[in-house]
Amino acid sequence: MLLKGNVIAVASGKGGVGKSTVAVNLALSLAHMGKKTALIDLDIYGFSIPKILNLEAKPKTLNNKMIPVGFQDIKVMSMGFLVNENAPVVWRGPMLGKVLDHFFDDVLWGETDYTILDLPPGTGDVALDMHQKLPDCQEIIVTTPHPAAVHVAERAGTMAQKSGNKILGVIENMSYFSPPDLDERYHIFGEGGGPALAETLDTQLLGKIPISIPDEKGSTVFEGTPPRHYTDIAKKIIL
Ligand SMILES: Nc1ncnc2c1ncn2[C@@H]1O[C@H](COP(=O)(O)OP(=O)(O)OP(=O)(O)O)[C@@H](O)[C@H]1O
Ligand SMILES: [Mg+2]
Repeated sequence: MLLKGNVIAVASGKGGVGKSTVAVNLALSLAHMGKKTALIDLDIYGFSIPKILNLEAKPKTLNNKMIPVGFQDIKVMSMGFLVNENAPVVWRGPMLGKVLDHFFDDVLWGETDYTILDLPPGTGDVALDMHQKLPDCQEIIVTTPHPAAVHVAERAGTMAQKSGNKILGVIENMSYFSPPDLDERYHIFGEGGGPALAETLDTQLLGKIPISIPDEKGSTVFEGTPPRHYTDIAKKIIL
């Protein structure tokens, strides 16, 4: 196992809640706080990290091991670096475990304090496989603020129980919208989902992330100094 240090998986029972966005911004925030940080896209079939980071590089190899792709101060690995963009990834079951082995054992991660894993949506095999390979892995569950998200709590909770992973806390994403330079908060997607989920799962609410306006390239990844809502979460993780 070449992957060392703390491993934190970002998961949700639901798709499209912002797991990948949160995983990227959290990894960048930890790196900004001086932690050696890696980011692994474990959404093998529906990888999105290369697109989110606008990375087209292919990992170089050294003595049959891969060198992760650098983005700012983080080291990144994704299935998207290894297959052609439009080629379907049709591997199933046992192959999945092999990809995880490949990412954990055959990549020259170097020293890492934190590795953030971006999980695919749902309650699938990846979380189970991951737990077998990384028994000390912790999970962050991402939800939206809508009260109906509590139903997802059951699934997210079952997923964590089934896989045996410890839950580090809940992040409520797309919590509210604040117009630039104003203090007002508009709860466009409702309120209460994050705290309710944290209570159901008997864990802490790590933080709430507002809805951001994508930049001209369509990106919701921050540049430079991390926004406060991310540094606050990163501080809780480092504790
Ligand atoms: N806080 C936010 N503010 C504005 N847009 C956001 C925010 N978080 C995520 N998004 C946008 O929502 C969409 C879904 O986000 P993302 O891909 O991170 O979700 P996901 O949970 O990883 O999805 P999937 O289940 O498909 O893996 C993207 O277009 C992303 O840019
Ligand atoms: Mg995703």
